[in-house]
Amino acid sequence: MAYTTIRCAAIAIVLWPLSAAAGMLEDGAESYEACALCHGLFGNTVRDKFPKLAGQPSEYLEAQIRDFLSGARSNDGGQMAAIVTELEFEDIAVVAQWFSVQDDPTPAAQSDVAGEKVFNSVGCGDCHSDSSSDDLPRLHAQHASYLAKQMRDFRDGGRAGDSDGQMQKQLLMLSDAQIISVANYLAAQPRRAVK
Ligand code: HEC
Ligand code: HEC
Repeated sequence: MAYTTIRCAAIAIVLWPLSAAAGMLEDGAESYEACALCHGLFGNTVRDKFPKLAGQPSEYLEAQIRDFLSGARSNDGGQMAAIVTELEFEDIAVVAQWFSVQDDPTPAAQSDVAGEKVFNSVGCGDCHSDSSSDDLPRLHAQHASYLAKQMRDFRDGGRAGDSDGQMQKQLLMLSDAQIISVANYLAAQPRRAVK
């Protein structure tokens, strides 16, 4: 009896610092639960204001979280900026990993042939393809209106996350109508599994 008590106490002492540090918020919830309200617990929300995070490479997710934190990305209406300051430094990798391994989101039903032509003719696929490196976002099966907003933000200078203005250079060529068309095409493609 005494031995069991001592053993349990010893285990608790060994485990306590781990559980307090590994991705937990102060109230004991997992750190990614703080994201669920807007992005869904599995990174797959139906509300198109909030990007689907499921199946996005963890490297890209981490980079965006760091950009919201530093203010390098500020096109979120302040919502992300408010939440990321609540994360401990080590939580950034935990939340990014959580969303990156969730099931890929379901693509939209209706594609856009004109959008596919624009995407291919201006060379978007040079960077955004199935073999893209993990610091590039997956665009397939994302909400169309979120994608269109990001493209307009890059084009008009509201989002400057890419270091040498690659995205802006590409998007200056596109009209609002072409942007919507490209977004509808991308939203309807299956997302490549990155696991
Ligand atoms: C109150 C709502 C809200 C909460 C809570 C929230 N987010 Fe966001 N998040 C947003 C909005 C809005 C955007 C899109 C901003 C835009 O339109 O550019 C966003 C964008 C992002 C992006 C960029 C995605 C991409 O494809 O570039 C990442 C990554 C992200 N959020 C991660 C998180 C994580 C991790 C958490 C939890 C720690 C979280 N968010 C909590 C509202 C929220
Ligand atoms: C030279 C490489 C390159 C080319 C070409 C390129 N992109 Fe990008 N794109 C990037 C990078 C890098 C990012 C991530 C920027 C960041 O870290 O914020 C990005 C981000 C995006 C995003 C935001 C995704 C998200 O989840 O928030 C969209 C949408 C996008 N690109 C669409 C396009 C379209 C459409 C084209 C063609 C007109 C295009 N890109 C051409 C490099 C490129």
